[in-house]
Amino acid sequence: MSSSERIQNLRDRKAKTRLSGGPERIEAQHQKGKLTARERLDLLLDKGSFHETDAFVVHRTNDFGLDGQKFSGDSVVTGWGTIDGRLVYVFSQDFTVLGGSLGEVHAGKICKILDLAIKNGAPVIGLNDSGGARIQEGVVSLVGYADIFLHNTLASGVVPQISAILGPCAGGAVYSPALTDFVFMARGTSNMFVTGPDVVKAVTHEEVTFEELGGAAVHAEKSGVCHVAAESEADTLYLIRKLLSYLPQNNLEDPPFLPNGDDSLRTDETLDSIIPDDPGKPYDVKEVIRRVVDSGQFYEIHEAFAQNIVVGFAHLGGHSVGIVANQPQVLAGVLDIDASEKAARFVRFCDAFNIPVVTLVDVPGFMPGPTQEHGGIIRSGAKLLYAYCEATVPKVTIVLRKAYGGAYIVMSSKHLRGDINLAWPSAEIAVMGPAGAVSIVFQKEMEKATDPAQRKADLVTEYREKFANPYIAAERGYLDDIIEPSETRPRLINALEMLQNKRDSNPSKKHGNIPL
Ligand code: HXC
Repeated sequence: MSSSERIQNLRDRKAKTRLSGGPERIEAQHQKGKLTARERLDLLLDKGSFHETDAFVVHRTNDFGLDGQKFSGDSVVTGWGTIDGRLVYVFSQDFTVLGGSLGEVHAGKICKILDLAIKNGAPVIGLNDSGGARIQEGVVSLVGYADIFLHNTLASGVVPQISAILGPCAGGAVYSPALTDFVFMARGTSNMFVTGPDVVKAVTHEEVTFEELGGAAVHAEKSGVCHVAAESEADTLYLIRKLLSYLPQNNLEDPPFLPNGDDSLRTDETLDSIIPDDPGKPYDVKEVIRRVVDSGQFYEIHEAFAQNIVVGFAHLGGHSVGIVANQPQVLAGVLDIDASEKAARFVRFCDAFNIPVVTLVDVPGFMPGPTQEHGGIIRSGAKLLYAYCEATVPKVTIVLRKAYGGAYIVMSSKHLRGDINLAWPSAEIAVMGPAGAVSIVFQKEMEKATDPAQRKADLVTEYREKFANPYIAAERGYLDDIIEPSETRPRLINALEMLQNKRDSNPSKKHGNIPL
């Protein structure tokens, strides 16, 4: 064969690889409203940046009808490329080849990518669209999943791992995305479940659709498995690109500095009146966040899940930060099981990847009641406590209004190695809210009063003046300063810049024992 023939032969082979499962299956994929594995990579990565690995790999199974079905590259496309010029590793399961099912070589390709990512320190993005373990390969495909789970776990905390669910993701296959840092789902075309509707019907006699059981809405709102539910596949891929702008490449790097036109000294007088005069009235903490961060851009994580706490990324003076804020608009911003777990996981991600945590506090306490107690609020609250205690990244906290009881301590207080703790003049820091405190301490006195309601109102006012303010905490040095709300942005940016070279560590150990 001449050298030009050899090159032509190579080109033909590569062209064949790009045909995936063939035009009919590609058409079927489009009919389902889904893109192909390669079309997705085209949308995700910078134009022309994709470099493919293992395009010639084929499976080694000749049983059960697989002998005549060898596809170059098998059922996953792997490689690396760039997003906004920064290196990322990718795998994209190809549903047009044997339903994207995962066997020995499919798993091997993914593990090779994860190994490269760990060694070279760049994020991994997995686009999932698969019928699960390849039935014809039996236990070998199960072992393939085990290899991926192990690699995901070893990569955890070393490089950011992002999963997009763009089709079915069933059975044990769900545990690879679940082990990664962020799970994105496309609405309408993706689902995740451990056991599908047929098994559910056989075992529990419940009739449930794919969407009801494990669609994007369910996982974004109820289970919390999905961090970001996007409107379409294209939207999913766009949002992944955007997320990366807040993240470092690996645990040894800082997040990218993104200078922008928003003045670091900008004040905002609207914030001075955002807290209602009536302490029982809600306001939207997202409004506070948007007014403070660079260009009002807030990238929310878990937007529809446990909405009583808000978490997400933003830039402050060009520095990437993770924001955790109680949301008075939902359940008065109380900490319950889901909110505690949502925030704990977010804080741990930020800490693992050198992203400072800004905490905005307005929390009446932990959610009372048997449902929460029996559901394990003690365990869940402890997770958030542990996450904040363990975190060594810069931690800047502002108490906006209520900070009562244990929730005051948990929400990144000075006592958990908070670096800079500030408060607005509206802050109320005490063991509990005025009504509860007065009822406990002055119960007998109120019973004896000629007008118990009036006596209670007077005592509440007295309590509020005496205890529910920031000055007692500030006198002790538990708050570093009390600031005017309008100056929140410049004060935060100043604190973050002051803390830029912060070095802190935890005692040497194999690993801690977070109350999972
Ligand atoms: C081999 C598979 C496959 C699988 C699908 N295919 N799943 N081949 N192993 N697991 C093939 C089909 O035979 C078909 O081949 C092609 O992929 C497309 O599948 P369709 O059924 O035509 O597509 P669709 O109607 O869209 O249905 C998709 C589906 C369905 C819902 C995913 O295929 C399905 O239920 N598959 C089985 C899912 C499952 O139970 N997997 C095991 C999960 S347990 P042709 O040649 O006709 O195009 C698991 C364990 C992991 O994964 C354990 C980890 C520890």
